[in-house]
Amino acid sequence: MEIVIVPSPEDGGRIAADIVCGAIENGARTLGLATGSSPLHTYRELIKRHRESGVSFAAMSAYLLDEYVGLTPDQPQSYAHTIRTELVDHLDIDNARVFSPDGGAADPSEAARRYDAAIAENGPIDVQILGIGLNGHIGFNEPSSSLASRTRVKTLTERTRADNARFFADPADVPHHVITQGLGTISDARHLVLIADGARKAPAVRAAVEGPVSAFCPASVLQLHPHVTVIVDEAAAGELQLADFYRYTAEHKPAAQGY
Ligand code: GLP
Repeated sequence: MEIVIVPSPEDGGRIAADIVCGAIENGARTLGLATGSSPLHTYRELIKRHRESGVSFAAMSAYLLDEYVGLTPDQPQSYAHTIRTELVDHLDIDNARVFSPDGGAADPSEAARRYDAAIAENGPIDVQILGIGLNGHIGFNEPSSSLASRTRVKTLTERTRADNARFFADPADVPHHVITQGLGTISDARHLVLIADGARKAPAVRAAVEGPVSAFCPASVLQLHPHVTVIVDEAAAGELQLADFYRYTAEHKPAAQGY
């Protein structure tokens, strides 16, 4: 696991964009996308590089991590809609190859199984972008999620519902259920890139990176993956015991070694 401590979230966005663009140059064809505020600097940077430097996403497919049960892509609060407005509509990626779990399905569990099978068939995902919830969730894998879980229906904690209420007119409108890639599904991706900023995220980042591997902190599953980059600003790194060591390794990184 490489932990990169950056002065600002904008710097973090540039590093994550370097990783994505470098992977595309090296033949990556499948991206894993996350919603939430953490990846927004990365997405803005990718849009900028597409516009100004001609980076093309025309050959790419993309898979979203999760979706609310009961919301369809035409509803602004759905993650399918959110990723279109924040990223997809501003790139040359074919919208028909941007996939998300079918939140409107009559049988959400069956939709989850289909989604998992589609990722297995068309993957592996080359670079998976991740944020982290205040309780250490990734995707919508709340504490107690099996570290081996596949895409399935999950129930949100009240804390996560409250954290996400800002996107809904009424907090009561936040769905209770979601379809999320499982921790095992996420771990199938070749390179996991977790982005976090702000002091509120510091305890979750510490638990994910330096705590025990445990279903209590779902993001700790990253410790079992062979290729992980964690990009945190100074505030989100504020509780890391080995922060100085992570800075030291970044400063002394062999020149040829990328992320
Ligand atoms: C939601 C999403 C996660 C995201 C998390 C944190 O729960 N399902 O994928 O990582 O929110 O969001 P933010 O980046 O806005 O803090």
